[in-house]
Amino acid sequence: MMTSKEIRQAFIDFFVQHGHTYVPSSSSVPTDDPTLMFTNAGMNQFKDVFLGIGSRPYTRAVDTQKCIRVSGKHNDLEEVGRDGYHHTFFEMLGNWSFGDYFKKEAIVWAWDLFTKVYKIEKDRLHVTVFGGDAAEGLAPDEEAAELWRSLTDIDPTHIHRCSKKDNFWEMGATGPCGPCSEIHIDFTPDKSGAALVNKGDARVMELWNLVFMQFNRGTDGKLSPLPARHIDTGAGLERICRVLQGVQSNYDTDLFRPIIDQIAQLTGQKYTAAFESIVDTAFRVIADHVRMLTISITDGARPSNDGRGYVLRRILRRAARFGRQYLHTTEPFIYKLVPTVADVLGGAFPDVKQAVQRVSDIVRDEETSFGRTLDRGMKLFFDAVGATKAAHSRLISGSVAFRLYDEAGFPVDLTRQMAEENGLGLDEAEFDRLMQEKRQKDRAATKGKTAGMQAFDVQLPATRDRDKWSKMVSEGKVLGWAFEGKFITQGKLDETKGQVGLVLDRTCFYAEAGGQVGDIGTITSSSGTFEVDDTVRMGDAVVHLGKVADGYLEPGQVSQLQVGGIRQQTARHHTTTHLLHWALHKVLGEHVAQRGSLVD
Ligand code: SER
Repeated sequence: MMTSKEIRQAFIDFFVQHGHTYVPSSSSVPTDDPTLMFTNAGMNQFKDVFLGIGSRPYTRAVDTQKCIRVSGKHNDLEEVGRDGYHHTFFEMLGNWSFGDYFKKEAIVWAWDLFTKVYKIEKDRLHVTVFGGDAAEGLAPDEEAAELWRSLTDIDPTHIHRCSKKDNFWEMGATGPCGPCSEIHIDFTPDKSGAALVNKGDARVMELWNLVFMQFNRGTDGKLSPLPARHIDTGAGLERICRVLQGVQSNYDTDLFRPIIDQIAQLTGQKYTAAFESIVDTAFRVIADHVRMLTISITDGARPSNDGRGYVLRRILRRAARFGRQYLHTTEPFIYKLVPTVADVLGGAFPDVKQAVQRVSDIVRDEETSFGRTLDRGMKLFFDAVGATKAAHSRLISGSVAFRLYDEAGFPVDLTRQMAEENGLGLDEAEFDRLMQEKRQKDRAATKGKTAGMQAFDVQLPATRDRDKWSKMVSEGKVLGWAFEGKFITQGKLDETKGQVGLVLDRTCFYAEAGGQVGDIGTITSSSGTFEVDDTVRMGDAVVHLGKVADGYLEPGQVSQLQVGGIRQQTARHHTTTHLLHWALHKVLGEHVAQRGSLVD
């Protein structure tokens, strides 16, 4: 039996023998493509070549790409754990032609590799070709069908024409695309699965997709021809391993089995490989998710409250909840699986080995913090299930989902999934409304950091020369003050006005930034003194928050500014934060990131 290592290597060797250059996988976390949250296909790193704006020193390439499909156009998250062949993270083996060979070689080599090298039974293989699309003005791909018929010994009745949904591959809403031809395998005992191709039935599974890249989908939704024609193929390593290792699901291959076994050992539960068993689903979800977390954190992502980081957080919390509810874990344990993932994948992706400790630490911290609210959240949820059923309702209320999110850190998709497991739905509209309200409140709160700050949320004139922070004293002309939603440029500012935001044309006061607190001090004109108890930046203005302590100030008056308090110390500490950060980078590596700082 071939191991996953041998299967991966055989793919690479086969195409190297046919003149392809081996190219390492790109990061699973793209840094240079704003249309992508995670790398979702092998072609991502070659997008510029397809678009004709980049080039490589080779025209044929072979690789195994780290892919994550949990967002956007290609999202498999809902399937994970329920079936045996969809994953949040998987390896996509691919061969590439950049304006070099086209359909003929792609088809012949795919067939040879599958039937001669991997020796997959021919009569279990089916292929699909693009059946055309009138609305797009695209003809059926008879050329590909003819190549399969004439150049390979596939059973001609195993060639199927399918619609755009399955046989026209696109990376996302925009980008390179083209008709494709897929190879599927029929697992039915009597090889009778022809009608199940592309029907989402586990008995017939896609193995390899050959894309004939010819178009670019523009932001206007229109297709335009690419400068040249290319080949992009993608074959799922985990699925091929399943076929060649003769097992029932990807989770029984040597890519997953060590992780599954370790989960069993850590939790004392048994994996029976049954799809109807929720306990087994928990095993599969956790094994899948820890691979995704290990790969993406190695590549620089980390759990957080928004964007990509929130996807990681959701994935980790899903795994932790499955563990707690079905495998009865009480302590963080997912992080203990990270070294096993690194053992399995470290050969293909050496970075994973280097990062083991860092990834385990991040996963453990995240598990620990969610662990604190998980039990409380589950209790809240199950109380709500009881109440919902007692009230003969089918929907968990949006306010419960919101409390779970807000108080227990349950991402809404987690609550939705738990509701489903209990035969219930979720009042999504109510949840969305409460989230909307929360966002508005959060925005207002950030704006109104200091008491009454909303009152200063008006268009303010810019402060020039605001960079003279080396000084403790300077001069500036009073422009006016923000008060009750207005910026006032006339009259006298005296004690009766209370807290205002005074703006001058110049200032040496430091406005809070980089965690260093805003300055305090005094501003004195010929007629009075203003006491500053905080300094903030709003737009281009430096706003001195405080009140008149004595006499009055008037617009136009040139005043003396005197910074008080401990500014020199806070400035030194601020510099030290930067030095510390620099040193951490030097000693620990570039992945060290500052998450915030308060320099008071
Ligand atoms: N880009 C195609 C896919 O992702 C083939 O590699 O399926």
